[in-house]
Amino acid sequence: MKLYRFLIFCLPFLAGAKEDDDQEENITCDPNVHIIGGTLTKSNGNAVDSILRFQCPEHTYPYPVSETKCTRSGHWFRLTYRRTKPICKEFRCPMPVLEDGMIRPQNLSYSNGETVFFECYDGYKLQGSISRTCMKNGRWNGTITSCNSGSQYCPHPGIPAGGRKSGENYMIGSKVEYVCNNHLVLVGSSVRQCLESREWSGREPSCQHKNSFDTPEDVASAFTASFTNMLGMTQTGEAKQPASTARKITLAKDAPLHIYILLDASESVGEANFNEAKNIIKNLTDKRGTNIHAAFKKVLEMMVLSKIIYKDSWAKTRFVTILFTDGKSNMGGDPRTAVREIKDFIFAQNKSDDYLDMYSFGVTDGANMLELNALSSQKHDEKHCFILKSTTELIKAFDDILDFNQIGDLCGVADENVEKSFRLRHPWHVLMEIPGIGSCSGSIVSPEWVLTAAHCLKDVQTKLDIDKITVQIGDKFSFSHVKDVYIHPQYNLSGLLDEKISQFYDYDVALLKLKKRIDFADTKSRSICLPCTSETTRAIRKPFPGTNCRDHENELLPTTRSVPASFVKRDRGRSETEAYVTIKTTEALRDACEANALHAEEYKHVTDVRTVVTDRFLCTGGQDPVAEEVSCKGDSGGALYMEKKRRLIQVGVISWGVINVCDTVNADKNHARDFHVNLFKVLPWLKERLGKIMTFIN
Ligand SMILES: *[C@@H]1O[C@H](CO)[C@@H](O)[C@H](O)[C@H]1NC(C)=O
Ligand SMILES: *[C@@H]1O[C@H](CO)[C@@H](O)[C@H](O)[C@H]1NC(C)=O
Ligand SMILES: *[C@@H]1O[C@H](CO)[C@@H](O)[C@H](O)[C@H]1NC(C)=O
Ligand SMILES: *[C@@H]1O[C@H](CO)[C@@H](O)[C@H](O)[C@H]1NC(C)=O
Ligand SMILES: *[C@@H]1O[C@H](CO)[C@@H](O)[C@H](O)[C@H]1NC(C)=O
Ligand SMILES: *[C@@H]1O[C@H](CO)[C@@H](O)[C@H](O)[C@H]1NC(C)=O
Repeated sequence: MKLYRFLIFCLPFLAGAKEDDDQEENITCDPNVHIIGGTLTKSNGNAVDSILRFQCPEHTYPYPVSETKCTRSGHWFRLTYRRTKPICKEFRCPMPVLEDGMIRPQNLSYSNGETVFFECYDGYKLQGSISRTCMKNGRWNGTITSCNSGSQYCPHPGIPAGGRKSGENYMIGSKVEYVCNNHLVLVGSSVRQCLESREWSGREPSCQHKNSFDTPEDVASAFTASFTNMLGMTQTGEAKQPASTARKITLAKDAPLHIYILLDASESVGEANFNEAKNIIKNLTDKRGTNIHAAFKKVLEMMVLSKIIYKDSWAKTRFVTILFTDGKSNMGGDPRTAVREIKDFIFAQNKSDDYLDMYSFGVTDGANMLELNALSSQKHDEKHCFILKSTTELIKAFDDILDFNQIGDLCGVADENVEKSFRLRHPWHVLMEIPGIGSCSGSIVSPEWVLTAAHCLKDVQTKLDIDKITVQIGDKFSFSHVKDVYIHPQYNLSGLLDEKISQFYDYDVALLKLKKRIDFADTKSRSICLPCTSETTRAIRKPFPGTNCRDHENELLPTTRSVPASFVKRDRGRSETEAYVTIKTTEALRDACEANALHAEEYKHVTDVRTVVTDRFLCTGGQDPVAEEVSCKGDSGGALYMEKKRRLIQVGVISWGVINVCDTVNADKNHARDFHVNLFKVLPWLKERLGKIMTFIN
């Protein structure tokens, strides 16, 4: 298997330092500029060079300009001398165009919510949408409608609303060209060619208002479709998947993918969300101005270099660039030439355009759609260029894009959005009802396997008992049933009866095999990562191969300090919360933590704590330096886990606690501690049971 690489390069290109040293007289611009129906911001009050931006509510855009600057002559550029008072105008959809058919109703433009209907003349077949509705961003929903006579090789390519087409010949190799009517910007392909496959090359054009923006929903669906298609192909190597197969992001394990993220950190992006990244990147560069050209040049340089570094996998390597910008390159040459050079380089390597995807995200009212479109890939039925109204919208879009249901079965990935439900943020967690025992927790470790505590299953002996176990999975709490139960062979609750110890929890782990594979997408659930698996090596971004189990242990349970971890706790009101604890891994802390075990009712007469607390346990809880949470009864069997590189890895199974603080009034919390079976100590058993479905490393 080839090395799996997922490289992210963050490229800086930066940042206009103001040349504001002029100490002349104090020139200021008119402070009384307003916009009807909207608000405005000024970057530096009414002083020279201050940038004034208008903001308008949804459905509307600032007219006549969306931003202006205070000039040295004391005027707001292109504003003060105009008669038009700034106003937020409603977006209107341009008139659709249909050859060989009729459109009803006819009008020069249409407002949000209006619907038009299309009808083809006799002998022509209608393609595309039979009706389209004007959306709030001044665009029609659906796809271009055309009337197809069937007499030519390619079908009629359609004409975008608000645009014109030239070229009447639809034979193989013939081209049609598009232009948009005044003030509208062409997005998509301006030239399309009739291909042997009876399709038109490139992407459906549309004529958009220059202030129009993509809704987060549009971006999420279009970007996901395109991007996941590309990732899908990475996985299957050379074969292009037919568009009809499910498009699922499965991060490629066998083909390298290089992603270049270009972050425009110029002043004009200027939103608080970029500030942090900006500050770091700013330090790396000299402050000159937005230089998209230089950024793409840098990408080209890195691509050339990667050919040398990754010689062996080069033929399979695919490239993605993602540009975040306001689309205004104010210096450093035309970025389009750099983009062309990148494309030329890729094609010169005998790579088809499947190997290169260039996405652009514009994020302010003033983003230049025309320029951004030129910097993006034009692919059949895929969208690579997006304009969003604000960074808030961008974040919303990416939230939708990073819908974790779509990324195959990577372990330990969870939704990080705090507004999402608890189960979406803890998708591996399950709750089990076991006859005779009550409830216990568990963790999904694969679509078929749930890891839990053995003591939860102590009364489960017959097939009938197994059939009665229910496992509640995912966001919708769907039920799963259990096919088989595998208890660790060394677990023996009564193993120390001779020493008058009624309960002994060594090796308190069990695996449940489910009757049916869990559908992760459908149930919105997902597995957690297990230590010493190759999957976890990748998750914590360690070299693969070249990382061993000991490296995992050093990384996850270092003995030099106590280790922060979490578990899922269900309070008496039955709602689930995340409890934060620290695992006492240093010798001194561990000893102190374990000593409290002798305060447990069952262990009062035990003299050596090591009799009941074997090497298999991890200890958490305590009051110092902060009071830590301890588990309650139904939490048993759940995962003790931690986050590394934004992936979640289970290190323990919740086994027992010293004091039941949940059901005991005025419980003495001073000695409350929890003990968890350390997964590093039961690896041979895990490997024996799960070795066929995941790769354990030595
Ligand atoms: C310009 O403005 C600054 C600060 O507002 C003030 O200190 C200074 O006296 C002003 N200069 C002139 C020439 O008005
Ligand atoms: C065209 O649109 C305008 C503005 O929405 C409307 O007043 C007018 O009635 C429409 N004309 C037709 C023929 O529908
Ligand atoms: C366009 O939007 C209208 C109104 O929301 C909806 O009824 C219609 O199905 C949509 N058409 C397409 C092709 O998406
Ligand atoms: C930028 O560099 C300065 C001086 O070299 C340093 O003090 C500062 O912490 C750096 N800022 C960031 C965000 O790296
Ligand atoms: C591309 O293919 C041609 C013909 O098969 C070959 O001559 C050329 O060397 C190849 N170029 C690269 C960079 O692999
Ligand atoms: C558990 O331990 C007890 C006491 O040592 C022993 O008698 C019993 O056979 C053990 N049970 C199992 C299943 O090993």
